[in-house]
Amino acid sequence: MANDSAAFLQPAQAALAQFQLVFTDGIEYTGPSGAAWAPGRVNLIGEHTDYNDGFVLPLAVDRVATFAGRARPDRIIRLWSIHFQEFAQFSSEGLPSNFEQQRASIPAWARYILAVVSELTKAGVTPAGFDAVVGGDVPLGGGMSSSAALEVATAQACALFSEGRFVIGGMTATLQPMQVAAICQHAEQIASDVQCGILDQAASCLGKPGKAVLIDCRSSEYRYLPFAAPGLSLVVIDTSKRRELATSAYNERRQQCEEAARLLGEIILAHEPEEEYAHNIRALRDVTPAQFERYASDLPALLRRRAGYVIGEDARVLQTVKLLEANAFAEIGQLLWQTHAGLRDDYEVSCLELDTLVEIAQRVPGVLGSRMMGGGFGGCTINLVRDDAVDALRQAVEQQYPTRTGLQASIDICRAAGGPGYAWAR
Ligand code: GLA
Repeated sequence: MANDSAAFLQPAQAALAQFQLVFTDGIEYTGPSGAAWAPGRVNLIGEHTDYNDGFVLPLAVDRVATFAGRARPDRIIRLWSIHFQEFAQFSSEGLPSNFEQQRASIPAWARYILAVVSELTKAGVTPAGFDAVVGGDVPLGGGMSSSAALEVATAQACALFSEGRFVIGGMTATLQPMQVAAICQHAEQIASDVQCGILDQAASCLGKPGKAVLIDCRSSEYRYLPFAAPGLSLVVIDTSKRRELATSAYNERRQQCEEAARLLGEIILAHEPEEEYAHNIRALRDVTPAQFERYASDLPALLRRRAGYVIGEDARVLQTVKLLEANAFAEIGQLLWQTHAGLRDDYEVSCLELDTLVEIAQRVPGVLGSRMMGGGFGGCTINLVRDDAVDALRQAVEQQYPTRTGLQASIDICRAAGGPGYAWAR
């Protein structure tokens, strides 16, 4: 963890400079000023597998959400958002029982922050009050999980302004990255009403430069894999399409998966009662592709397509791990196209804009793979592209996307970067 101002990331420095200008009302702060940050993420593969107890393979990117400010003598948290040019204020006293009440009286962007403070309190942690500027360079709503970055940065800010330690019942305590991720996942659920899995928050918490991370979303175990792809770029293309209906559709997919797992459990138990695995099917993660093949026809058609996608995707994640270890990026690209087809045809979470970007990418030589990324219904695609093909892809998108969709797409190149951090300004 960084501990001097030389280590400040640029967005944290910018937020710190704003802090001096915005908070000028003469409060007697209790400590020095400092900044905390956490990265956004891309997910190489493993989409909609997290809430099925499955596997994901994300990496943290070189874009962060950041807080810069100072601890207060009371339990008030006062915030100024650079993005929204707006103040928000709440108290960490009385949480979580007055979460709903406070949530109703603050702007939407601040609800994620309030939710993290509320979930930390629920976990027995007592965050200090602070004043802070909230900023960063994760594109908002652009598919790199700006909300997860904000949540994890909130947990970091609470740690920073509590003097680098969380205080639990009067004792200091350290939270492990996956504990912070789980707290932030629950915060996302109560702030957004989306019953999300742990992918985004875990990816932000676990970021390491030059590494992707394989996460087992059931056991919370994780393993780093080198993500050094010489001559290749990870290109994120934002559709700029707003995600209408995403909340209800996401929660509906989750329910369908749970129902499919329950039915498959019953079916497999009825056919193979002597097998131990037949007694232990709790989620789609527990059904192998071979078992699914045997019993898929017993499922209603819609659930068959949903479950088939998820079971296939878990297998693709594990295949990608082997391919990454062998630096077989062309084959990884093939899996990305397959994931997109599954999300589009069987899981049905794509949309015209995402499909258009993938179709455009498909015709550019040197694009190894492309797929929609994240929850779907908007957001962005992730593209594995040879460095010498990035310009051609950019040109193809600029020429074709606006005429086919009426929208402008934006293109970003990402690197695998480090996780959350904080530093005092000295
Ligand atoms: C969203 C959710 C994640 C995950 C993805 C799909 O980003 O927040 O938990 O389910 O969708 O993989």
